[in-house]
Amino acid sequence: MIRSVVTGVGGYLPEEVLTNADLARFVDTSDEWIQERTGIRQRHRAAPDQAVSDLAVEAARKALEAAGRSPADVDLIIVATTTPDLTFPAVATIVQRKLGCPVGIAFDIQAVCSGFVYALSTADGFVARGRSSCALVIGAETMTRLMDWSDRGTCVLFGDGAGAVVVEPGEGRGDASDRGLLGFALRADGTKQDLLYVDGGVSTNGQIGHLRMQGNQVFKQAVINISEAVTAAAADAGIAVSDVDWFIPHQANQRILNGVAHRLGIDEAKVISTVAEHANTSAASIPLALAQGIADGRIRPGQLVLLEAMGGGLTWGACTLRL
Ligand code: ACO
Repeated sequence: MIRSVVTGVGGYLPEEVLTNADLARFVDTSDEWIQERTGIRQRHRAAPDQAVSDLAVEAARKALEAAGRSPADVDLIIVATTTPDLTFPAVATIVQRKLGCPVGIAFDIQAVCSGFVYALSTADGFVARGRSSCALVIGAETMTRLMDWSDRGTCVLFGDGAGAVVVEPGEGRGDASDRGLLGFALRADGTKQDLLYVDGGVSTNGQIGHLRMQGNQVFKQAVINISEAVTAAAADAGIAVSDVDWFIPHQANQRILNGVAHRLGIDEAKVISTVAEHANTSAASIPLALAQGIADGRIRPGQLVLLEAMGGGLTWGACTLRL
């Protein structure tokens, strides 16, 4: 059978770093509070002239290089983002133009922090059916542009960045020893919208809006929902959670990462965490963490990884992948 194989991974973080101490200069917070409640030490912020497509292009270039591919090979681009350059066209088509990719398929996915898992699943539908031979799946965000900088309960949590993977078809035997995407669990529950949303939009008030969140409620939902999705995505791949080499969670809060690991009996040493340096980069956080784990030599070819996320919607999901 044809599997969708991840052949290259790349990440990009904008140059400017904002530490917790930097934030404490204009909002009533402290480095101690932020680190204790979230594990976050700093976040990156895009320059005023950097659009989310610029971040996406940088990450995509690195992923293509890692895969030994060029923009000319790309026939499908999916960008998961909640902070697009423009209301339309899709960021994916802007990335296509900036990279110089040929005419192909390009569109965005909006599932907030779960966007990358949703986008990978969507790409699998094209690649495994022979409709794409070289796909770019990108998570890219400028979350700092959605912040209400007077709301200390949210503005300390988020950052900007982008991560990308190249997905190509590969022969598999149809079992969990195959390289590639092996199992998914995708979920949404629209009744929980009020826990986490942006209070602006094209067809409501015509504003960009600001991110609003009931943090403690989101926290509880995250641990329960993510744990269920991880178990389901492992089962979908025909493996046990204990078989996984590396867990690559959406990087929202170190306490959520620890809570999920504890609930599932996962050794915390198997969890890739970038939340201290990146904060929450929404759809970008999983591919950024994957890129970091590969770059520092922890994640190696052939290993089994499990990606998971939850975000606004609520949406959540998980994906089992052999590199
Ligand atoms: N600095 C100092 N004090 C703060 C700050 C801050 N940045 N933010 C809130 N506080 C205060 C509150 O005002 C409150 O004060 P009070 O007791 O005088 O009223 C106190 O701290 C406790 O507030 P809580 O909201 O109950 O604090 P909690 O321990 O729940 O931590 C946090 C808040 C960090 C937001 C936590 O709920 C959380 O991380 N939730 C998950 C949300 C999340 O990560 N969302 C991201 C998107 S969804 C996702 O990606 C999974």
